Amino acid sequence: MSHKIVSKKQLSEDVFTAEIEAPLVAQAREPGQFVIISLNNEYAERIPLTIAGVNVQEGTISLIWQRVGKTTAELSDLQPGDEIANVAGPLGNPTELENFGTVVCVGGGIGLAPLLPIAEALKAIGNRIISIVGARNKGLIILEEEFARTSDELIITTDDGSYGRKALVTEPLKELCQADPKPDKVFAIGPAIMMKFCCDVTKECDVPTEVSLNTIMIDGTGMCGGCRIEFDGHPKFVCVDGPEFDGHKVNFDLMMKRLSAYKSMEQKEHERFKDHRCKTAKTKYQK
Ligand code: FAD
Ligand code: FES
Ligand code: MG
Repeated sequence: MSHKIVSKKQLSEDVFTAEIEAPLVAQAREPGQFVIISLNNEYAERIPLTIAGVNVQEGTISLIWQRVGKTTAELSDLQPGDEIANVAGPLGNPTELENFGTVVCVGGGIGLAPLLPIAEALKAIGNRIISIVGARNKGLIILEEEFARTSDELIITTDDGSYGRKALVTEPLKELCQADPKPDKVFAIGPAIMMKFCCDVTKECDVPTEVSLNTIMIDGTGMCGGCRIEFDGHPKFVCVDGPEFDGHKVNFDLMMKRLSAYKSMEQKEHERFKDHRCKTAKTKYQK
């Protein structure tokens, strides 16, 4: 069964969102879960993307992705009416939703996409939400309106000061965690290095912290081992044991090493794709 792209929008220079027909996934999905998609049946790799939202009546799911390499660039080239060959899911464990009290939701860059449905679900059951929305620069801030709607307090940071406060997300996080009363819970989603430093801050202040890990995934069913991490000294698979974990027990240094294992090959493929795209008006994957 192919999955038609119903609508598509560009959110910033390299960030896109689309609604995709996937009625069974839409019915079953809970916040925190993701899908693994492949663009065609022949040569496509499989990539995981968080389900950012669903419309059960329309039978669609929405995805938000950042164009970082070959597959996300190919996906960005598709238009409404085009089809995605495979959408497998919903995968992973849903977020454990509880009324914690005051929750700080920290999102960096594309991590804001998986964070939004979690913040919305936490708000809906009565938590007070303080969101810290961060990116390298103004152009990379996404979903500001949506976070403003969901949050009791919204703090925006950019690394270069082009918008909001000139700071890394860890600065306001540290201030909140050192205040009295401190937050009851933190959710941090973004690049591995950001989650690592957020966890350093919250560990020092003894604030429980959940992270959603973005390891390399292939099958998404616990069979290939691609998404293996070290958690509390033991191996865990992000696809079936996660994607959310107690951030204070994750070995981020090992995770970052594994994430960069294929960097040179990924770079080469992306260059080859860009070159091919320049020479042809449409890729072989498009109609
Ligand atoms: P490449 O050039 O192939 O790779 C760029 C980088 O992306 C790599 O260095 C690696 O860190 C990562 N990556 C590459 N292949 C994979 C793979 N098969 N699985 C996971 N990571 C990979 N990104 C979004 O933009 N939006 C999301 O909502 C989102 N949700 C995610 C949810 C989960 C559970 C996980 C594990 C990842 C999620 N990602 C999300 C990351 C996304 O899967 C990668 O950006 C994408 O796979 C990159 O593919 P590429 O071919 O374009 O880039
Ligand atoms: Fe293969 Fe998790 S993606 S074990
Ligand atoms: Mg790739």
